[in-house]
Amino acid sequence: MCGIVGFTGLQAAAPMLLEGLKRLEYRGYDSAGIAVFGDGKIRTERATGRLENLCIQTQDGTAVPGACGIGHTRWATHGAPTEYNAHPHLSNDGKFAVVHNGIIENYAALREELMAHGYVFQSETDTEVVAHLLEMYYHGDLKSAVMKTVSRLEGSWALGILCADYPDRLVAVRYASPLILGIGVEENYFASDVTALIGHTRNVVYLEDGEFAELSPGKITVYDCVGAECKKTPVRVNWSMEAAEKGGYDHFMLKEIMEQPRALKAAIEPRIKGGRVVPDGIEMPQQWLEGISRIVITACGSAYHAGCVGRYVIEQLCRVPVQVEVASELRYRNPIIDEHVLVIVISQSGETADTIAAMKECKARGARTLAIVNVVNSTIAKLADDVMYTWAGPEIAVATTKGYTTQVAVLTMLAVYLADRLGRIDEAEYQKLVAGISALPERCQRSIDLNPHMDRLARKYHRHNALFFIGRNLDYAVCLEASLKLKEISYLHSEAYAAGELKHGTIALIEEGRPVVALCCHDALFDKMMANIKEVKARGAQVMGVAIEGDRRILAEADDVVFVPAADPMLLPISEVIPMQLFAYYVAKENGCDIDKPKNLAKSVTVE
Ligand code: G6P
Repeated sequence: MCGIVGFTGLQAAAPMLLEGLKRLEYRGYDSAGIAVFGDGKIRTERATGRLENLCIQTQDGTAVPGACGIGHTRWATHGAPTEYNAHPHLSNDGKFAVVHNGIIENYAALREELMAHGYVFQSETDTEVVAHLLEMYYHGDLKSAVMKTVSRLEGSWALGILCADYPDRLVAVRYASPLILGIGVEENYFASDVTALIGHTRNVVYLEDGEFAELSPGKITVYDCVGAECKKTPVRVNWSMEAAEKGGYDHFMLKEIMEQPRALKAAIEPRIKGGRVVPDGIEMPQQWLEGISRIVITACGSAYHAGCVGRYVIEQLCRVPVQVEVASELRYRNPIIDEHVLVIVISQSGETADTIAAMKECKARGARTLAIVNVVNSTIAKLADDVMYTWAGPEIAVATTKGYTTQVAVLTMLAVYLADRLGRIDEAEYQKLVAGISALPERCQRSIDLNPHMDRLARKYHRHNALFFIGRNLDYAVCLEASLKLKEISYLHSEAYAAGELKHGTIALIEEGRPVVALCCHDALFDKMMANIKEVKARGAQVMGVAIEGDRRILAEADDVVFVPAADPMLLPISEVIPMQLFAYYVAKENGCDIDKPKNLAKSVTVE
């Protein structure tokens, strides 16, 4: 999704902006642009497609003079991904340049009003109204023009503003879209996320909704929405530069798959103390918890799939009904939610627009919200009553891997913790699960060791244009994620089916040679899965069976087998999904796909 950077200092701004935008590439974009104040005026350069095009056009920024500027990567929402729709957008008098992340919901009315005042529009974007409003309200006082402009906007925005009358000054404005200020030595920055900043500074200031800031090389001043100066305490970011880079792997996705033991350790270790699950950040009153009628889990994409795993585990352990629903559906369904419902919101980025909206809807109906989020201080983390961070570290590849597995780990810990507080788990089972959770990082390493095997299997199956994933119970929840992983990065058609449901229609698609990946890790349902495998084999399918190490029964039916280490059934999803992530990765690699930035996808989807 769109990315914003800003730089003001003593050195050339354009190369700094391009470098910052490079670090935001993972968010997904289809055009990019910069605006720099130099030689007495604002100059913009914009290009469609990859950032590389903008680098070529500007000779890596060296052709654009000036030490103060803003930059943007755009993921088209209002208007096609063309050069004229790319940001920055200029006011008619050329005095203001604006970059924007979010959506100005009332842009159509504003556009009409501005056109009636004689302003001429160069693009189809919602953003351009901001540049013209600034021009209309500017009479020599930048701060007041910014405040008047913002007071006219509805929707969400992170804005970066450059004004030709203030050659070394930037303005950053935040409302419902992330924006972070970076403090350097005789230079200051802003960006949509810390990844763009950590090459230059580790001292950052998080703007809150409604706040805005003026930045010059030696000073940052933050104001609240009524223009009063507010004191902000800088936060030190510990993410290493190396953590945000590829670290020797061909792709971020592979690096992030390999990082899972470490990420899981970071998610789990601090929360297990003296054999007990001790989650930080949960302040749910006991009496309220004992009175809950239901748990609702809401999220999008892979985070929703993590929620599907969570449903099985929480229901099994807590005996509380759990409903999982994609956020974009829940929000528009007039959901039956009240103050006796616990809503668990899952999001890697913490900025997904539909998830935020669903969360707000649930909060408005009185629910208590618990967020499982990776990005610290993100919108969802801040909105929630309780937060459990996944501590997975920066995830750059669009297709999530460690983001998902750490969500599953945190959900499992949460299930054990809630079951204990509700008095619904006996001590022996509690101890067994805590030991199993503690062993997850080491156990998942054994799934990662399947790397060469999954590479081999990918070479065998990569040419097929449609695959099916089947499983039951928790295995089915894992199938959903395995199938999404494959389709999103390899562009192969794949479907996940509850194995018992396949025969109610979809089995018509099984034909000679059709690959079916059958997850058979649940001992209690093993025989049922074998029956389903027989059904598809009878129709010509080639079956890749995933089963527990040592369970040789699978060899009788499957053409290929993937063995994962044994564990309590509730702790198996992580071990099962990792070989599936590797399979998707190698299939995409065989097929020459752009693995880290799959077409049409964005890492952080900040629009509906
Ligand atoms: C996008 C990403 C997915 C992610 C989903 C939800 O579609 O490509 O990988 O699962 O958004 O994102 P979130 O940040 O809320 O987990």
